[in-house]
Amino acid sequence: MLTALFILIAIVVVIAGLVAYALNYPRYDSRAAPGIGSVEYLVGCMTTDEKLEQLSGDLPSLRFQLRYAANVFSGRGAPHVYAGQNTRLGIPPLVFTDGPRGVAVGTGATCFPVTMCRGASWDPDLERRIGEAMGRETRAIDANYSAAVCVNLLRHPGWGRAQETYGEDPYHLGVMGTALTKGIQAHNVMACVKHFALNSIENSRFYVDVEVDERALREVYLPHFKRIVQEGEVASVMSAYNRVRGEFCGQNRELLTQILRQEWGFQGFVSSDWVHGVRDGIASVEAGLDVEMPCKQHYGAPLRDAVHSGTIALATIDESVSRVLRTRMRVATAEEAQPYGPHLLACAEHVELAQEAAEAGTVLLKNDGTLPLQPGNIGVFGHLATLETTGDHGSSAVQAPYVITPLEGIRCLVEKRGGTVRHDDGASPFEAAKLAKKCDAAVIVVGLSAEDEGEYFVLRPDEYGEARQLTWIGGGGDRFDLGLRPTDIALIRAVTEVNQRTVVVLVGGSAILVGDWGDWVQGVLAAFYGGMAGGTALARILFGEVNPSGKLPFTIPKDPKDLPPFDPFARQARYDRYHGYTLFEKRDLPVAYAFGHGLSYTTFAYSELTVCFDEILRVSVRIANTGDRAGAEVVQVYIGFPESAVDRPTKLLRGFEKIDLQAAESRTLTFEIPAEELAYYDTEAREWCVEHVTHSVSVGGSSQTSLHASCAIIPGVEE
Ligand code: BGC
Repeated sequence: MLTALFILIAIVVVIAGLVAYALNYPRYDSRAAPGIGSVEYLVGCMTTDEKLEQLSGDLPSLRFQLRYAANVFSGRGAPHVYAGQNTRLGIPPLVFTDGPRGVAVGTGATCFPVTMCRGASWDPDLERRIGEAMGRETRAIDANYSAAVCVNLLRHPGWGRAQETYGEDPYHLGVMGTALTKGIQAHNVMACVKHFALNSIENSRFYVDVEVDERALREVYLPHFKRIVQEGEVASVMSAYNRVRGEFCGQNRELLTQILRQEWGFQGFVSSDWVHGVRDGIASVEAGLDVEMPCKQHYGAPLRDAVHSGTIALATIDESVSRVLRTRMRVATAEEAQPYGPHLLACAEHVELAQEAAEAGTVLLKNDGTLPLQPGNIGVFGHLATLETTGDHGSSAVQAPYVITPLEGIRCLVEKRGGTVRHDDGASPFEAAKLAKKCDAAVIVVGLSAEDEGEYFVLRPDEYGEARQLTWIGGGGDRFDLGLRPTDIALIRAVTEVNQRTVVVLVGGSAILVGDWGDWVQGVLAAFYGGMAGGTALARILFGEVNPSGKLPFTIPKDPKDLPPFDPFARQARYDRYHGYTLFEKRDLPVAYAFGHGLSYTTFAYSELTVCFDEILRVSVRIANTGDRAGAEVVQVYIGFPESAVDRPTKLLRGFEKIDLQAAESRTLTFEIPAEELAYYDTEAREWCVEHVTHSVSVGGSSQTSLHASCAIIPGVEE
């Protein structure tokens, strides 16, 4: 008995010791001393082991898992992840934090609205400012590497991580992702764009093999990455888990070396997606993947053995080390924009920015004039009204100091303006209807939560099929059903039967079908996951303190059968050139809400469209605010190719700008679209081709544009 007790105490002491050790991990400075020496010099001084240290996370797998689990489950948030520290040579480590909702390491950071909500703002300047705030907070926690730039294309709204990207259109994705990258990198943080490439299914992300033809790859799935590399000068790229054309992205030489480096001129380094992102160390390093994250699995010892046996040339290792150090040392020695410290985490300026982003990204889908509401006797319905949700529970989760729920936001505003608010969680539609009957207006907050969508974790990633997947961390994954839950629909029915001033607020990461209930309600807002200040932003929009200006960054179909095929547990998938608005337009299919759609409390009129081409396509248009209050409009320019010799989409987004207009104010905007933006990829010549034919230009406040013109594209003098 005594022995058993002794063993038990010993086990408890050992476990407590391990946990304490895992929690109190050492912290390192990410700055290097000036005069540290050139990269050539540093690499020249390194032993093979020191070189290999540069190429993976600093911990062996078990110690990493212990540190990670102890910190996350004790409520301290994700720990710092270090790679490549070399004290002998004075090289500071790479210090990783996740994004894109904010800084994911530790607790207390600003939680911004999810990327999809920010995509709906169509405001690159706002996104750059968000990037700057994330950059500052990254430095505030002593990190220097941020995986916040997620730009995988929303091919199908069922994708579980839709919330982490900006939308369905490659041009829009590229512009928004570039803005975020530039903002983050303004603070000596290396931004990492992910997941390269074609990672648009979640449940099977570890094994799905994506087949794609050359035009779909070049024209649809890669342009946004290319823009972020070339215009955004992103420091790093994270490879995806999935396979492309039979080869895992983490060892796909065509993607990581031929396209990324040789064609696009990428100067930074490639890191792997976590844990299952490298399958074979030698194949990966030879394909151009520089850093295995987050710990040593297939790099480290296996690579050392391969170097010693001559299976891999030391020169290949040297190349990777030089690439990594060139980027890291440039950033670690660059002049600082400002001092950084913990006071920056969720500081007033950043929280205000999070609120501004939620306001700018909320989309008014439908309004019969009921909105904006008057703050009288307001009924708030639905369990999401009180849920502190900012998105899924995956890698992008941020431990904000607080979250304003929709109910809190509404209550605060309405009571301040002399009204009253009552809430019913909607569990009984009958009870909800009783309350709704007595209210001046009803706001129903329904949609999705981390249970319904998000990152999907499996313990045995290579096993196929739903039955064998083991999920944890609360649900997530792809959506099989794009509609609301039957209980939500029953709630909407019950409330709308007794209250004809009912507004539905949709929470979720992408399209939610409205077919079953959209006609019953007087107003619909897509609020996404609005971040820590989302409730305040929502209330300000509902009650007219802010004029909504968000536009859908994806299409909401009428019939989900019209969407491209999508199988969350696919072992193989084929991505072609059509999805979203290009698919719906090509097949002339009806949509519930078009890409780019979003209403305002004022109205805008478009006129005076003129187009001309002289090496660059110039599109001018006049926009007038024809209503009686100030508002912002997202002016969208689409180009069509009616005379093309090859099959092309009906039209493609090639310019957008968000402008503020006072009541009765009007302004002329000019877009300059470089000829390269009009090109298609000629698969035989293996180059981009601009056709010298008449192109169509259409402009408006959604993809269902209001003004149309055409313009001949003629060769420039140099041709
Ligand atoms: C995700 C990445 C993330 C990484 C680190 C992976 O599972 O796919 O997006 O950056 O984890 O948290």
